Amino acid sequence: MMDKLALDGGAKAVEKLGPYPAKIGREELAELLSLWEFSPASRKKLEAVLRSEKNLRGPHLFRYYNPKPSKVAEAEKAFAKYLGVKHVLAVNSCTSALIASLRALGVGAGDEVIVPAYTFFATAATVCASNAIPVIADVDDTLTLDPRDVERKITPRTKAITVVHMRGMPAQMDQLLAIARKHKIALIEDVAQAAGGSYKGKMLGSIGTMGCFSFDYYKILNSGEGGFVVTNDQWLYTRAQSWHDTAACWRPDRYGSERREGELFCGENYRMSELQGAVAVAQIRKASSYLKGYRQNKRRIAQALELPKGVSLQRVADPKGDAGICLILFMPDIQKTKWALQAMQAEGVPAGGIYDQKVKDWHIYAYWEHILGRKAVASDGLPWSGVPKSELPKYDPKMCPQCLDYLSRAIMIDIQWAYSARDCKAIADGINKVLGALK
Ligand SMILES: Cc1ncc(COP(=O)(O)O)c(C=O)c1O
Repeated sequence: MMDKLALDGGAKAVEKLGPYPAKIGREELAELLSLWEFSPASRKKLEAVLRSEKNLRGPHLFRYYNPKPSKVAEAEKAFAKYLGVKHVLAVNSCTSALIASLRALGVGAGDEVIVPAYTFFATAATVCASNAIPVIADVDDTLTLDPRDVERKITPRTKAITVVHMRGMPAQMDQLLAIARKHKIALIEDVAQAAGGSYKGKMLGSIGTMGCFSFDYYKILNSGEGGFVVTNDQWLYTRAQSWHDTAACWRPDRYGSERREGELFCGENYRMSELQGAVAVAQIRKASSYLKGYRQNKRRIAQALELPKGVSLQRVADPKGDAGICLILFMPDIQKTKWALQAMQAEGVPAGGIYDQKVKDWHIYAYWEHILGRKAVASDGLPWSGVPKSELPKYDPKMCPQCLDYLSRAIMIDIQWAYSARDCKAIADGINKVLGALK
């Protein structure tokens, strides 16, 4: 005979299930710890603690529905305070931040976005990934966008400018903001390489319409991989948040209908995990002291330099706002650049060249084959098919002569926040020794 159904007052078939298992626990923590360098004695102690802890509760590494306060949300709050902006969205890279920003601004097929000739390729690639056309503008002796060339490259299709604060140095924001306002277009700041830098007292990323940061391993602040979108515009934040989270799954009212036209659309998944969020929180806490170190060391080296005639320092749009991660010298010609670079490296100076015609580098537009060759991912031909062929920009590896000239004569000195005064003196002495022998 069948038992009475629970619905009819019978006993429940399932009284109580076992605890929901933690998805991540002891072994994962041990793996994480293995990424750090411990002395063998400390490692033994840590392993013993891990084994002895009976009720080790694993973390919830997804930012939403987290029973504990989210580390990603904490990083967003801390970064908003550090930068002085209203809205911050954590994402998984600056590439994602740039696409989310372009999409939030409504950039799409048929639009043009101006990008600098000297930047990591992602600044331009994200325009194509948004189905729009990148228009490459030259840089000047600041190695950031030349406002005169930007003005020349504006067309009725221009929807935005992505300015890059390259190598920690602020771009010429007054002039670029004036151009953006005059033409009623957006100004996106790509702050991937300049977190903590500023321009005339304002933090980089907080000045334009939207700011995009990278927290990849090689950046000033890092969480292995990661990024942030920042803005003071609530609507743009809402749209970027939707784009970063596949069809706005996590809007305040998940299944609510559209509050305003343009709120609902299909997006991607750029969410940051709690692992990256936790690292980002600690990095943001250290940002001010990192910046202090970089800036102090750049000043120490720069002040000790004795530059001969024909050698100059890169012009910086606002020297006070320079993040200080490198120092760039312009040499009189390519031959002298090559010789001085070799000589400095032989002295132990952390010097590198920027442009060598024989070495490919994704930071220089002349090597962006995907764009110069108008490559498309699918048979629809986008982004190039979004504009009549006769109106597409003409790309040429020689189209930005200032960029190629400055970069081919540039020597970049790497600066670390942890250098001592003695390190800085030794570097400056090495540079002076070589420049003093320049013929
Ligand atoms: C100027 C610039 N923009 C964008 C990016 C892309 O950053 P991510 O690696 O976080 O996607 C980088 C990274 O190197 C960069 O240097």
